[in-house]
Amino acid sequence: MNNVISYLESQRSQALDGLKEFLRIPSVSTHPHHREDLHRCARFVAGELEGIGMRNVAVNPTPGHPIVTADWLDAPGKPTVLLYGHYDVQPAEPIELWESDPFDPVVRGDNLYARGSTDDKGQVWVHVKALEAHLRENGRLPVNVRMLIEGEEEVSSENLEAYLEAHKAELAADVVVISDTSMLDYERPSIGYALRGMAYMEIRIEGPNKDLHSGVYGGAVPNPLNVLSEMLGKMVDRDGRITVPGFYDDVLPLRDEERESLAALSFDEEGFAGKLGLPHATGEKGYSTVERLWARPTLDVNGMLGGFTGEGSKTVIPSKAMAKVSMRLVPDQDPEKIVRTFTDYVKCLAPPSVKVEVICHGTGKPVLTARDHPAVTAAHKAIARGFGKEPVYIREGGSIPVVAMFEEKLGLPTVLMAFGLPDCDAHAPNEKFHLPNFYRGIDSAAWFYEEYGRVR
Ligand code: BES
Ligand code: MN
Ligand code: MN
Repeated sequence: MNNVISYLESQRSQALDGLKEFLRIPSVSTHPHHREDLHRCARFVAGELEGIGMRNVAVNPTPGHPIVTADWLDAPGKPTVLLYGHYDVQPAEPIELWESDPFDPVVRGDNLYARGSTDDKGQVWVHVKALEAHLRENGRLPVNVRMLIEGEEEVSSENLEAYLEAHKAELAADVVVISDTSMLDYERPSIGYALRGMAYMEIRIEGPNKDLHSGVYGGAVPNPLNVLSEMLGKMVDRDGRITVPGFYDDVLPLRDEERESLAALSFDEEGFAGKLGLPHATGEKGYSTVERLWARPTLDVNGMLGGFTGEGSKTVIPSKAMAKVSMRLVPDQDPEKIVRTFTDYVKCLAPPSVKVEVICHGTGKPVLTARDHPAVTAAHKAIARGFGKEPVYIREGGSIPVVAMFEEKLGLPTVLMAFGLPDCDAHAPNEKFHLPNFYRGIDSAAWFYEEYGRVR
């Protein structure tokens, strides 16, 4: 391993340059006009994988954006890792809030700024560079590796399920490894053991069949914006409890043991609120901040549209109003069931004077991952070496719907090796990757393949 680690040390600036090239491709999966950029990005990933010596590299078309696959299976008797990541990114808007071009990566201080720098191109790159070091230095990998890098994670992995179903044999492995999550903080490298799930909904309300003068009609017609805000206001009560009937029925309560282990992380509550300009954290009564973030479900309005929002004033009763609502779910909530009860609830909250439409934009299942798998032990040792510190075990508040699919379709457990930071501003302006963690991450990943190869 010494040669692998010294190779990585000597290659730091090349690793950074390669990542910058990856980040220059605006692979925004949700925007149809970036379609060709997603193909270009997939070809870029494939080219790099070929370059480092991965085999059977393919850019697999889907009805949406392509899936890049590759393998290296020349370690007989050794376990097989399925490395998953995504090359697509979130939109950069609002562009005016970026201090530099989101698709022209720059280093300022200890950070590399660009859309996708941590989510997830940077963390995919960590593994590509670690695998490269093994292949260059030793001509081989310590374990068998399959790779699946998709282009639709940020749009709910719409075509991945069918791909998994159709390619079960080519994806056979012992474990899935994903680096697409956050460490607890700068000081504490982390291994994730849970992800929240998701149900993303849209509510449309229509009142009168056209916009109306609020003086001529006001007081005698339903106002869709008033109606919608009243409905939304009822969905979470004063104690932070969600009022959708049956919402908590399948929530696995935290066991005392786990509450203690989460409390032992001594999460910096004051710092958490302070950095966000808040007097204190908020949420469901009876739970600590980490419990609310990681182990309790939520209901959040993501956006609302309707009526007059321009400068100055205009007196109007809008005909229509709309809101986007996301619910983060926890084990063992079933997203499909939540979609149904939410839809029924919205319809029952709405007065008969308006038309209501409820649309589901995507779901993802919550997961708890195995903690006693040999790959977790290997990841633990690897992170301890790469960071010079033992990792802590955390849940994650975000969602990666494919993790549940890997378990259901392929029977595979997942290890979440986190290299991002909670304040990396993923999905927001000025997304960044903390470079010291980028390099420690690469060393940790290199150690992971080595340690996992020692298992059998
Ligand atoms: N990498 C994130 C998920 C994540 C971030 C998990 C931080 C844990 C910590 C992923 O790219 C993502 O953004 N997922 C979406 C899923 C949604 C589109 C279904 C999310 O969580 O909003
Ligand atoms: Mn991601
Ligand atoms: Mn994301």
